[in-house]
Amino acid sequence: MTTKAETVLVTGGAGYIGSHMCVELLQSDRQVIVLDNLCNSSAASIDAIQRITQKQLSFVEGDVRDSDLLARLFAQNEIDAVLHFAGLKAVGESVAQPIKYYDNNLNGTLRLVEVMSAAQCKTLVFSSSATVYGIPDSVPIDESTVTGAINPYGRSKLMVEELLTDLYEADPSWRISLLRYFNPVGAHASGEIGEDPNDIPNNLLPYISQVAVGRLEKLNVFGNDYDTPDGTGVRDYIHVVDLVKGHLKALEYLAKGPKLAIHNLGTGNGYSVMEAIKAFEKCSGTTIPYEIASRRLGDAAVSFADPTKANTELGWQAQFDLDRMCEDVWRWQSTHPTGYPKA
Ligand code: NAD
Ligand code: WQD
Repeated sequence: MTTKAETVLVTGGAGYIGSHMCVELLQSDRQVIVLDNLCNSSAASIDAIQRITQKQLSFVEGDVRDSDLLARLFAQNEIDAVLHFAGLKAVGESVAQPIKYYDNNLNGTLRLVEVMSAAQCKTLVFSSSATVYGIPDSVPIDESTVTGAINPYGRSKLMVEELLTDLYEADPSWRISLLRYFNPVGAHASGEIGEDPNDIPNNLLPYISQVAVGRLEKLNVFGNDYDTPDGTGVRDYIHVVDLVKGHLKALEYLAKGPKLAIHNLGTGNGYSVMEAIKAFEKCSGTTIPYEIASRRLGDAAVSFADPTKANTELGWQAQFDLDRMCEDVWRWQSTHPTGYPKA
């Protein structure tokens, strides 16, 4: 007897993390449907996913806030689970345009769970963020650390966590996984998919790689007077492939029964900005010009995960170190200096 392949809806599947997720899902013989409005991504990533895996997925261009479209998708397909990546993620933009962020991130999730509920599909993995911890009092950060986001983006993540928790309290037949990512970096080893920011990158690794490839002149290091070994900010960078493998483990965990679970996805190691620059220089053979600038508002000195709960409950552990993350970013960036081909 053969069992039917699991069908997974991936919202935001054309984006940076979602595209890596689709590769792992297809390689684990799941059927994949991507729903993405391409507001921060390119359909070229969908072609690349199919090239890497030599498998087809179903791509629907549309908005996760479109209830009618969602209802049609659930009527036409037997969807077993949803991985919900669709959302806006730029902290600075969220401060300037909070309503855009609350609308997209909250209403997107509300419309999704309404339609899922009506379709009796109650397995959901949500892309949360270590940003829900705000500026932590101590490290490592475990899941019992008090939350308190400090910008609209972070608050939108926290509000979604809260609304999903309320949903589970009201209907404990749901299977919900809230995954709090630390700092996702890296790219698929093929070099075919990777991070492709629309504008000047906000995040460290994409900024460094665009300096390395000559798109940007120099890196601004935001502060070298923090209470850290070299004075620069320390973060828990995690390879995007490790990160998405954590989602497969979360799906397996949810398959065991209804629950609402919260897990940190991080390596448990902290690296400073200077260490990241050095690692990138080594793996790319380039020199990264940089200048010390003032601290960036809202930045913590140090943030890294205690990933014990994901290690023990999910049976998941990150495998790749910072050198490997930089190698893979460089393979992607050096072969795609301006990102995906523009339509
Ligand atoms: P991304 O912008 O590359 O991917 C998000 C995708 O969602 C994009 O393809 C975008 O076009 C799509 N999208 C946005 N709003 C949509 C909507 N209303 N309807 C349909 N599609 C929509 O970002 P990413 O880095 O891949 O992040 C994925 C998720 O992980 C996001 O929810 C983000 O908040 C979360 N996250 C990211 C990081 C990070 O540093 N990259 C860290 C923690 C959490
Ligand atoms: C890392 C370190 C900076 C850029 C952000 C979001 C968070 C999450 C992940 C989504 C810090 C320093 C950076 C630069 C620098 N995203 N830096 N020069 O701030 O930890 O987290 O992305 O959920 O919500 O806030 O990551 O990559 O921006 O910064 O010196 O040009 O690099 O000060 O110490 P961050 P980051």
